[in-house]
Amino acid sequence: MVLFQNPTVDDIKKAALIIQNGGLVSFPTETVYGLGADVFNTTAIAKVFQVKKRPHFDPLICHVSTIETVEKLAFIPNSDLFNTLTKAFWPGPLTIILPKKDIVPDLITGGLDTVAIRMPDNDIALKLIEYSTGAIAAPSANPFGYISPTRASHVIDTIGKNIDAIIDGGNATFGIESTVIDISTPIPQILRYGSLAIEDIESVLGCSLEYYSNINKLKFKSPGQIKKHYSPTKPLFRFSHPDELQGIDLSDAGVLYFNKKYSELSFKETFFLSESGNLIEAASKLFDILHDMEESDIKTIYAISVPETGLGRAIEDRLNRASTR
Ligand code: TXA
Ligand code: MG
Repeated sequence: MVLFQNPTVDDIKKAALIIQNGGLVSFPTETVYGLGADVFNTTAIAKVFQVKKRPHFDPLICHVSTIETVEKLAFIPNSDLFNTLTKAFWPGPLTIILPKKDIVPDLITGGLDTVAIRMPDNDIALKLIEYSTGAIAAPSANPFGYISPTRASHVIDTIGKNIDAIIDGGNATFGIESTVIDISTPIPQILRYGSLAIEDIESVLGCSLEYYSNINKLKFKSPGQIKKHYSPTKPLFRFSHPDELQGIDLSDAGVLYFNKKYSELSFKETFFLSESGNLIEAASKLFDILHDMEESDIKTIYAISVPETGLGRAIEDRLNRASTR
């Protein structure tokens, strides 16, 4: 595995060549680190699933650096809507689901007739895409079901030995995955809460958006919406008020508080998502802190609930899935 630290343009070109030759490169984005492969190379795509131990029904996002590439990969049923979203939020943490064109291998879309596309807001990622074949398929660079990587070291420590290169671009700024919106249907729907607050999309579109939950539905529209996901190996429990924990032995437990509001109970270790109670800061630290809690010698994790507005919804979504056994 080659590690490119503080990458020069030349390094990014070398990494792009690895992708063109069918290799796997982990690269930074503004959300989390991705595990990239050439969209048009099915052998490389198959390796991505293998390295992550990801089920083949769970489709990958195609990362692009131009709108022309979107037109190559997908049909755009409602171009006003598409233009409004991309002008407001691209490059950035919004993944758009569109009807796919035949050029996109079925392996990427898990056999669905739609494809997920996004333009990441990270210069290294954009250059890597541009210097390779213009479209990079990339899931988050973590073993399937595990905590997502927000630093190169998280990738090195987990799947590092099974991939060809890692570009270290420092800490991911948002620290939580992109928001996914489906505009392949007449009424747009949110399929995943993420780094872009729903309220921000709603204010640009001037309408309210529906969140599609797979849970309790027969139809599996967003296969990645699996109940157990983003999970540390240590058991993680949720609570909303410290009173709920009275009588529980917390001597080996770590707590993940949102802000400074409740700090009266004594745990082995205490972590704060945002001492001042800022949801953007909290979202950016979530996976980072979960990695730290995984490495510390606490045995269990107690994570308090956060307000369900703005990025709080994405944080709640990730923590609830992380707590699913
Ligand atoms: O921020 C991100 O989106 C990161 C960075 C690397 O770009 N990527 C990421 O990829 O989170 P991944 O594979 O961990 O999650 C992709 C999500 C999954 O929930 C998957 O089911 C959903 O997008 N998805 C992909 N294609 C889809 C499709 N055609 N229809 C519905 N959902 C789709
Ligand atoms: Mg993921």
